[in-house]
Amino acid sequence: MSSTINTMLVEERVFGPFDEFAANARISGMEQYRALADEANQDPEGFWRRMAESELVWHKPFTKVLDESNAPFYTWFEDGELNVSENCLDVHLQNGNADKVALIFEADDGKVETVTYRQLHARVCRIANGIRAMGYGKGDRAILYLPMSIEAVAIMQACARLGLTHSVVFGGFSARSLHQRVVDVGARLVFTADAQLRGGRQIPLKSAVDEALSYEGGDIVEKIVVYKRAGSDITWNDDRDVWLHDIEEGQPEECTPEYVGAEHPLFVLYTSGSTGKPKGVQHSSGGYLLWAKLTTNWVFDAKPDDIFWCTADVGWVTGHTYITYGSLAAGLTQIVFEGIPTYPNAGRFWEMIQRHKVTIFYTAPTAIRSLIKASEQNPDHHPRHYDLSSLRLLGSVGEPINPEAWVWYFENVGRSRCPVVDTWWQTETGGHILAPLPGATPLKPGSCTLPLPGVDAAVVDESGNELPPGAGGLLVIRRPWPSMIRAVWGDENRYKTSYFPSELKGMYLAGDNAQRDEDGYFWILGRTDDVLSVSGHRLGGTEIESALVAHELVAEAAIVGRPDATTGEAVVAFIMLKQAAPTGEEAQKIANQLRDWVAQQVGPIAKPRDIRFGNSLPKTRSGKIMRRLLRLVAEGRDIDQDTSTLENPDVLKQFSGVY
Ligand code: WT7
Repeated sequence: MSSTINTMLVEERVFGPFDEFAANARISGMEQYRALADEANQDPEGFWRRMAESELVWHKPFTKVLDESNAPFYTWFEDGELNVSENCLDVHLQNGNADKVALIFEADDGKVETVTYRQLHARVCRIANGIRAMGYGKGDRAILYLPMSIEAVAIMQACARLGLTHSVVFGGFSARSLHQRVVDVGARLVFTADAQLRGGRQIPLKSAVDEALSYEGGDIVEKIVVYKRAGSDITWNDDRDVWLHDIEEGQPEECTPEYVGAEHPLFVLYTSGSTGKPKGVQHSSGGYLLWAKLTTNWVFDAKPDDIFWCTADVGWVTGHTYITYGSLAAGLTQIVFEGIPTYPNAGRFWEMIQRHKVTIFYTAPTAIRSLIKASEQNPDHHPRHYDLSSLRLLGSVGEPINPEAWVWYFENVGRSRCPVVDTWWQTETGGHILAPLPGATPLKPGSCTLPLPGVDAAVVDESGNELPPGAGGLLVIRRPWPSMIRAVWGDENRYKTSYFPSELKGMYLAGDNAQRDEDGYFWILGRTDDVLSVSGHRLGGTEIESALVAHELVAEAAIVGRPDATTGEAVVAFIMLKQAAPTGEEAQKIANQLRDWVAQQVGPIAKPRDIRFGNSLPKTRSGKIMRRLLRLVAEGRDIDQDTSTLENPDVLKQFSGVY
């Protein structure tokens, strides 16, 4: 954390305002920003009513905006009824945009396929009719374990059309993780593909579903719908498995939407928290979609001619809000990319921006850092070799972007013309919370700038008192907002204790440390819990620890993150085996075994980069593992911190070997 603070203190550059951009922007200049923010502060209900009435199509209008009577279980627009898919698709068929391209899909191998809003609507309707014909609909849950594809977006939209709550599981998660989510959410239906293609390789998906469902409780799933992507061999169970193309066949291209109450759960998305079990973050239909659409329009300054590219996977919230829902509700043309940034070479992103004339590009700091490194190693793939003149706006999300990476992105990709919007938000917030408005907010590299209109964010101490500029503290959101998390699926208590601890008197606790500067700008300092951010993916340290301890050789494990120039953080595991700490070749062998185990239990993204063996872990006298000391060891730093509370200070010396 101290290195972040240092970077911040020297970071005083300000970029913008961008006059040319501001001239045509939806929200132009700080006065317009302030007017909106003031309107929202003075009369929140009136503000949100105006937004919800103007942005969404309601089947039955709502009468009440916000109900706080059962706080922190807030409800928004509760007696209103709508359909999310109608708001993302049908509206564009009626406003003359039927033949506008909705999705430009680029496959791993470079093949391109486009669908218009009319075609996407037809596809979604056929799939929805197929699902309906199988007997599933409102009140059911489906798990989606799919590659990035038109089909993934269409299946999510088809679920929304039927009021079927979806839960997407990122294709990089293991069968074990998938199983945990299937059981927790109580899915009767799973959508998957035979395999996914990434970086020229085939990664099987259907076999992971088969395995997941073979574990205890997996038989709750009645049907697996399989999208034939790779044409690879899969095992088939006639009673349970059906092809996506078969359920679609012969279905009409119209499907009456199922109107749902605004609070109906559109989706549940699992994310790591500070205990071993991932949390099922439940989102609503009305409030969620409202904010998804508004923030797309505000933060990305979405215009009819834009070609928008969000590089996230639909397995993460970024892909939900800024691929499947917000961008379609806003009527954008957008890219859906199956592959990875470095295949066939590290120029892939730049080449795609050039090919598709992308105007708005939204990616993660980890991707930017890895492409900086790649272009240093092989200058052929430097962005300067590509025509990126179509770009007008750049975005960043997922973790703090270090000022140097920000400036590189700004200069080399945006050619010093395009504002960079650094957007802070979370799975739980549903959409952007702290972010610049590109036609208004002056930018400071490394800061996600200011709260969006309607958002009351602050930095407070542990009792909820607001801190002055320059003081680090807890990032909170003091008033509810429409797209906020509604529940932790099946666990009321966890929702309250994780996000609304009683000391904070009703404020939403984000779980990040932050500080504000003299201009009120927010600077994110990192997580307050043991959640790690590896390549922008949120990983629970406890989850990885639990997986390690479940291995027959392991007695105890502690996970910490250490800063990494490319991935943001790297996973470091401190491990006590049931046998004495191994060294040399034996240690290497066991370390590799444990890495494979973690890949299998949690997913390849969770594999520890470094493994350090010892015969005991550093603990306080009350028995708590001292992760702050392990972090120093992990970084290879001297232990200059206070170790007086350590039961046995020598314990740190044993972890010198890294495997
Ligand atoms: C955590 C949320 C938001 C979609 C992707 C991640 C970190 C996210 C930023 C940013 C600094 C950021 C926070 C947050 N984070 N965006 N612009 N600057 N940190 O969603 O997996 O729910 O992770 O990502 O630590 O709490 P998520």
